[in-house]
Amino acid sequence: MKILFYDTKSYDRESFEKRIADYPELKIDYLKSELTPGTARLAAGYEAVCAFVSSDAGTKTMEELFHCGVRLLLMRCAGFNNVDIQKANEYGITVMRVPGYSPEAVAEHAMALALTANRKIHKAYVRVRENDFSLGGMLGFNFYQKTAGIVGTGKIGAAMARICHGFGMRVIAFDMYQNPELTFVEYVDLDKLLAESDLISLHCPLTDDTYHLIDKKNINKMKNGVILVNTSRGGLVKTEDLIAGIRERKFFAVGLDVYEEEKKNVFEDRSDEIMETSITARLLSFPNVVITSHQGFFTEEALSAISETTLSNARAFAAGQKSGNEVN
Ligand code: NAI
Repeated sequence: MKILFYDTKSYDRESFEKRIADYPELKIDYLKSELTPGTARLAAGYEAVCAFVSSDAGTKTMEELFHCGVRLLLMRCAGFNNVDIQKANEYGITVMRVPGYSPEAVAEHAMALALTANRKIHKAYVRVRENDFSLGGMLGFNFYQKTAGIVGTGKIGAAMARICHGFGMRVIAFDMYQNPELTFVEYVDLDKLLAESDLISLHCPLTDDTYHLIDKKNINKMKNGVILVNTSRGGLVKTEDLIAGIRERKFFAVGLDVYEEEKKNVFEDRSDEIMETSITARLLSFPNVVITSHQGFFTEEALSAISETTLSNARAFAAGQKSGNEVN
């Protein structure tokens, strides 16, 4: 089976090339271009395409892929909010993903963001390099014995809950389903979580229900001086309301690995560009906001798991079998 791999970065190729010899029935061609309605037609002659979080697998793209004869969309990530599943169903395109390739990778990054934003590591790094050893503006607070509120206790949320527990925090959580492994977690409703948490970390998927979950109304319910971390999806947070909340001094700090408007930025070097009017630039102007570029997943272990699972998804499809990672 021939697979066209979109948005290839050197680390993707390295990781897939390491394993492809074990899958002689699969052949991958790598493209640097992102999957969009415009580039989808390059998939003519391929049975499968492989895409990632910033790909546009919306209605138009699915239509093009279908006309090119593509029958399988391999998402090399967990989230699939950028895929038009209804169209995929209509066109008989199977969508497969890599669920839970390394929950700890993302959870550890969430805690890294929380600690960086709290203890001002981003500022300290620059200051000390300039031989400025002063501490003004660096004051943080202990996580020990504070309350961590985890929204969504699936694989990543559970890993984050365990990390927070390890820090000696009281851990509360909101989810429709209680994770029985998290015996140390107290499940509460969202309002209570917002009102009592010193650190709020978002780990639910982006759906119609969770879109702009963190808006003005819910920000107002938070404790003053809270730290908010989002490593899940940008659309969970209404950025304009977040910015207003930051201006009103609601947040002690904010750590974002994902944000609305990230699509154009993710994994691109735009350092020579003059940025257009942008909420990203506004967010970056605040001293208590730390942003990373969707790198929560980016560990060696996670990349290995992504390539291994994506290739075995493709193998299962090619053999007419189910891998269990089908989305539709
Ligand atoms: P999961 O499916 O294991 O867990 C999601 C949890 O959220 C489930 O327990 C579900 O019941 C809960 N949930 C759903 N709707 C909810 C709501 N309205 N309120 C509260 N909880 C709700 O997913 P996993 O693997 O833990 O991933 C979570 C998210 O992390 C993904 O959807 C993805 O958006 C994001 N992610 C980010 C990465 C990064 O690099 N920053 C990498 C991988 C995933």
